[in-house]
Amino acid sequence: MQHPNVSLTGSLSVGKMASSNSARYRLARSGEKSRRHPSAEGLPVSEAQEFRHAPVMEREVVEAFANVPAGHIVDATLGGAGHSVALLEARSDISVIGIDRDETALEAARARLAPFAGRVTTRRAAFGDLGEVLTEMLSGLGATHISGALFDLGVSSPQFDVAERGFSYRVEAPLDMRMDRSQALTASDIVNTYDRDEIARILRENADERFARRIADAIILARPINTTSQLAATVTAAIPAATRRRGGHPAKRTFQALRIEVNAELTQIPAALDAAIDATCVGGRVAVISYHSGEDRIVKEIFRTAESGGCACRPGLPCACGAVPRVRRVRIARRPSDVEIESNPRARSAQFRVVEKLAVR
Ligand SMILES: C[S@@+](CC[C@H](N)C(=O)[O-])C[C@H]1O[C@@H](n2cnc3c(N)ncnc32)[C@H](O)[C@@H]1O
Repeated sequence: MQHPNVSLTGSLSVGKMASSNSARYRLARSGEKSRRHPSAEGLPVSEAQEFRHAPVMEREVVEAFANVPAGHIVDATLGGAGHSVALLEARSDISVIGIDRDETALEAARARLAPFAGRVTTRRAAFGDLGEVLTEMLSGLGATHISGALFDLGVSSPQFDVAERGFSYRVEAPLDMRMDRSQALTASDIVNTYDRDEIARILRENADERFARRIADAIILARPINTTSQLAATVTAAIPAATRRRGGHPAKRTFQALRIEVNAELTQIPAALDAAIDATCVGGRVAVISYHSGEDRIVKEIFRTAESGGCACRPGLPCACGAVPRVRRVRIARRPSDVEIESNPRARSAQFRVVEKLAVR
């Protein structure tokens, strides 16, 4: 399923030098703390180190792909390439097909992956189009299947931390929130042109916001809303004072919901996972790290259907509909360790699910 506003471009080669922008996008394996100003999630980030993304559950990801057949692994959310580097280092017999729809992330990833030239191909694309993208890329690589695919969903730390991208309620910026900056739809379009019911639906469905209708009313009244700070103040004022004092920032859910809508984050997952499972060879694996319940629900459902082969027979009775399981579930740590969460608080909501492709009998 493709978001109408997500644009796709052609193939990008690996090994290009990093731009001055991507130099700021260096990655770290663990979250480093700073003293200067807060990041979007309240994590301290120094000016010099603000463009870093620590790969979540890196050890578990390497373990998940440790025994897949040699070949190509798709990193469908390349980001700054932390997971890809770990996989390339762990397995000399695999290469990576790296996909991201954020050009800035791709630039940073290409620079980071330069030492692995010859084992990496990158493409700017939305993973919702994985089926077509893979058909084309695999034919260019002279391959028919992949050995597996990794999806590390959501937003990277650099996307959150660069104020002008408008993802954060903590810093003043235009209401943007696009991962793909060539896309037309921005958060400002939603906030300033969608009707009250649509805004309330987005807040409810994408972030389980209890005060969706109150916030939607407040947004309509406050229009035009041009900046993250204006939106954060409008949302904060709309939430009852007693609730405001509890939990995290009152605008956190609204920002999450808008970001998900702008980037069609949930609607692309089913087609992407189906395409990945289809393209994976027997014994290959598809792994997903998700960060909130909406994402995880979709992943669980797609994997469950692939496990049962879409069997619609009554649970407990032998299958009479002839459904053929496509995958089996792989038992692997579902959650990051406490040690990881302590060193990288952004890992705290991560959930990891892995399936392995079965032979068709
Ligand atoms: C959590 S980060 C991945 C970080 C990466 N695993 C690493 O180790 O650096 C998610 C990345 O996926 C990209 N992304 C999110 N949704 C996408 C989609 N539908 N299609 C392509 N890329 C997407 C974002 O632009 C972001 O760079």
